[in-house]
Amino acid sequence: MSSMHNPSMAASQKLYAALFHVLLLSLFPLNAKSSARTQAEALLQWRSTLSFSPPPLSSWSRSNLNNLCKWTAVSCSSTSQTVSQINLGSLNITGTLAHFNFTPFTDLTGFDIQNNSVNGAIPSAIGSLSKLTHLDLSVNLFEGSIPVEISQLTELQYLSLYNNNLNGIIPFQLANLPKVRHLDLGANYLENPDWSKFSMPSLEYLSFSLNELTAEFPHFITNCRNLTFLDLSLNKFTGQIPELVFTNLGKLETLNLYNNSFQGNIPSSIGQLKHLEKLDLRNNALNSTIPPELGLCTNLTYLALAGNHLSGELPLSLSNLAKIADMGLSDNSLSEVGNLTMLQILDLNTNQLHGELPQTISNITSLTSINLFGNNLSGSIPSDFGKYMRSLEYASFSYNREVPQSLTSLKGLEYLDFSDNKLTGNISKELGSYEKLSSLDLSHNNLAAFSKINPQELLMAIQDCAVKEEDYHNAQQLTVASPQRITKRFLLVLSFRFVAY
Ligand SMILES: *[C@@H]1O[C@H](CO)[C@@H](O)[C@H](O)[C@H]1NC(C)=O
Ligand SMILES: *[C@@H]1O[C@H](CO)[C@@H](O)[C@H](O)[C@H]1NC(C)=O
Ligand SMILES: *[C@@H]1O[C@H](CO)[C@@H](O)[C@H](O)[C@H]1NC(C)=O
Ligand SMILES: *[C@@H]1O[C@H](CO)[C@@H](O)[C@H](O)[C@H]1NC(C)=O
Ligand SMILES: *[C@@H]1O[C@H](CO)[C@@H](O)[C@H](O)[C@H]1NC(C)=O
Ligand SMILES: *[C@@H]1O[C@H](CO)[C@@H](O)[C@H](O)[C@H]1NC(C)=O
Ligand SMILES: *[C@@H]1O[C@H](CO)[C@@H](O)[C@H](O)[C@H]1NC(C)=O
Ligand SMILES: *[C@@H]1O[C@H](CO)[C@@H](O)[C@H](O)[C@H]1NC(C)=O
Ligand SMILES: *[C@@H]1O[C@H](CO)[C@@H](O)[C@H](O)[C@H]1NC(C)=O
Ligand SMILES: *[C@@H]1O[C@H](CO)[C@@H](O)[C@H](O)[C@H]1NC(C)=O
Repeated sequence: MSSMHNPSMAASQKLYAALFHVLLLSLFPLNAKSSARTQAEALLQWRSTLSFSPPPLSSWSRSNLNNLCKWTAVSCSSTSQTVSQINLGSLNITGTLAHFNFTPFTDLTGFDIQNNSVNGAIPSAIGSLSKLTHLDLSVNLFEGSIPVEISQLTELQYLSLYNNNLNGIIPFQLANLPKVRHLDLGANYLENPDWSKFSMPSLEYLSFSLNELTAEFPHFITNCRNLTFLDLSLNKFTGQIPELVFTNLGKLETLNLYNNSFQGNIPSSIGQLKHLEKLDLRNNALNSTIPPELGLCTNLTYLALAGNHLSGELPLSLSNLAKIADMGLSDNSLSEVGNLTMLQILDLNTNQLHGELPQTISNITSLTSINLFGNNLSGSIPSDFGKYMRSLEYASFSYNREVPQSLTSLKGLEYLDFSDNKLTGNISKELGSYEKLSSLDLSHNNLAAFSKINPQELLMAIQDCAVKEEDYHNAQQLTVASPQRITKRFLLVLSFRFVAY
């Protein structure tokens, strides 16, 4: 090669030499070979600082130096025969990146060491991997702050530092990464940067979940119009959710703001999020009504609004949410149940539902779990309740003022809680028709007696049955139960296997 720079060479010779060089390169990629060898040596040197249990990567050995592209966890670019990807996920690696020499890996596009026990700092030298498009350091033990040099990785499309012990301020220079579509910094101890310096319009997936972020909703997010997934849960954000979230982010499929301190209203513009499948606004301080427009988000499968200060009626439009399987609206001040269809899980515990349950509730045939604990329902439960619910396993009507007319059709029920109601009369022998019941709580009612029921049958019939102590005394027949089974002042817990009779 040095001959190319020999001034005494004639031009034609030079040309010939140059052509020959090109030919040589294409036939015998000498440079590639030497850089592949440098890369292999760098990997071996790093490997020697790691511990694995059990030890994998037997192909990574000095005797196999010339077969780098066949090493496990390594892929090569077919043109240069140098390393293009390193995928060391889930290999139970313990060690650091301190001794990883990034310099030779000029063609690396993917570096994935997720789900290991790599600790220490993320080296700033990682910024030299200028072709990197995919960087996944998630689920490790990295600590310290995010090196600002990551912002030199301008080809990056996927960056996950999820679930490490990173702390400090998120470098605003990350906004220099123009191509990042997937950014996950969740489950660390990261703090607020100056969000006004951020702009990442190419984002499609963004999670800052479970960090130490405070103050207002990061405004730059409202310009990430391609977002389909947004998770800011488990931080300490305050203030209103900007309406632009609902008007600009029309591609959102998941919106998770769970466990922050967002205040104010859920605007009617939420109905513009037509692609929304999962909405979790639990545990904030939202204090509006539920806008009827939520019923326009017909692709919702999961809706969780529990633990806010929402008030007013449950809009009947929610019955349009034909795909919803899990609706959790507990701990609010809601006062009506609409026509809900296709639900599997209905959790309305600790609201202010009052009056009678709508007759239509019996027709939610898909219900597996209903929790109406802590409302102010009165009247009686529809007599056909349960008749069409083939899969109902859990039902709590506790802390209401309700009286069941008949609940004998709930063959599959495993858990039934009727405590703290105003049930009167006798416990019916029909209890015996709950073939799978393992827990029945009838405590804190005004049940008179267990007359007409053969006590042995009842004892055999109910496992984990809790009845009020007075009821227990009234029911002379139950004195056979041993006193040590009285676990609390009012509760008598009997542990007998349930058998149908
Ligand atoms: C991972 O490595 C640790 C020791 O470093 C070992 O105790 C553990 O069993 C390993 N786990 C698996 C799944 O191999
Ligand atoms: C993480 O790695 C361990 C082995 O160390 C493996 O058993 C586990 O399935 C992995 N988890 C995921 C989510 O890949
Ligand atoms: C948003 O997505 C569209 C369609 O995939 C794409 O053409 C556009 O460039 C993206 N916008 C940004 C800012 O990345
Ligand atoms: C939710 O946030 C509160 C503080 O606002 C905290 O005490 C609580 O532990 C958080 N819940 C979870 C599940 O982390
Ligand atoms: C909701 O809370 C905000 C302050 O957090 C207050 O200004 C507003 O009046 C409240 N709205 C309702 C309907 O209670
Ligand atoms: C609703 O979900 C289905 C299946 O996930 C999908 O094919 C469809 O495009 C979605 N519709 C909207 C409006 O997002
Ligand atoms: C609710 O269901 C009942 C009975 O099918 C029907 O009469 C009523 O119009 C429904 N209400 C709405 C808002 O769909
Ligand atoms: C519930 O469904 C049954 C059987 O399909 C039907 O006869 C009844 O009218 C429905 N009840 C209500 C209130 O919609
Ligand atoms: C429950 O409803 C009754 C009758 O409508 C009402 O008098 C009572 O105040 C309500 N209780 C609560 C806690 O809302
Ligand atoms: C409960 O049983 C007693 C004794 O058999 C009977 O006199 C009483 O009428 C029953 N009460 C009701 C509400 O069925």
